[in-house]
Amino acid sequence: MSNIKILSGKDVSRKVYSELLPRIVLLKKKNITPGLAVILVGDNPASKVYIKSKARKFKSLGLFSETILLNQAIKESELCKIILSLNKNPKFHGILIQLPLPKHLNKNQILCKISPHKDVDGFHPENAGLLSQGVPRFIPCTPKGIMRIFKHYKISLDGKHVLVLGRSNIVGRPMSLLTSAKIDSANATTTVCHSGTENIENYTESADVVISAIGIPGYLKGSMLKTDAVIIDVGINRVKTDNDKGYSLTGDFDWNSIKNIVSAATPVPGGVGPMTIAMLVENTVEAAEQMIAIS
Ligand code: GUN
Repeated sequence: MSNIKILSGKDVSRKVYSELLPRIVLLKKKNITPGLAVILVGDNPASKVYIKSKARKFKSLGLFSETILLNQAIKESELCKIILSLNKNPKFHGILIQLPLPKHLNKNQILCKISPHKDVDGFHPENAGLLSQGVPRFIPCTPKGIMRIFKHYKISLDGKHVLVLGRSNIVGRPMSLLTSAKIDSANATTTVCHSGTENIENYTESADVVISAIGIPGYLKGSMLKTDAVIIDVGINRVKTDNDKGYSLTGDFDWNSIKNIVSAATPVPGGVGPMTIAMLVENTVEAAEQMIAIS
């Protein structure tokens, strides 16, 4: 029988919200309601679902959020103008541009137009640089949420081999910086594998912790993993099924083959996803607090 420990992002996120509440109350006493602007360009169905759940969470916590839906064909100059006006708008402490953007838009050019003080995703080069120097301002939400899961479940990374699959600026790269940082809660030996890696099993088989953000449903099988490994599944892959929605969500790990091998795992859904939203709320609250501190 499998005695796998389920690392519930849903449970940890509830704790995060309860710890944020007094900070939100304090801000409201000062007539400040943390506010987030969410920009969606085009109508990517998965992005629409994500931004809806972000907006719902902000509302349920009494926070302010506004979604700005923009036409798929918007020009880069037009989008930059909108960002610059949001930078000046005091109602918004955070600005998020939902990724991916349509191909004709230069993501890096656009993300660096967001004020680094409102960059709650932590994607601005100034914030990415601060993180790589070990003095972060805003940490990207998914890797920050994963570190919080480790902390909550008292999973020590110290001296462990952590394998990160994927090297995106959203998950893989910041995840590798956080897990290998010379701090008590990290200090791992981190390996990054990506689409250019040959014989991925050479790395998965020796990893104590595997964090996958490759987006291939069921790619990682039990036979590729070390016994008692801890696995963190960032993959939220839509797989066609006959249910009402027409799809179901599946992670990067093949649950049937890993369940008798690994010691602990995040489920999909209910694992990393809720933590990404919780960290977005936390970063927005922090942005509002920092704005008072500098004004
Ligand atoms: N698309 C997938 N994950 C994210 C995220 O964390 N932030 C933004 N802005 N877009 C995403």
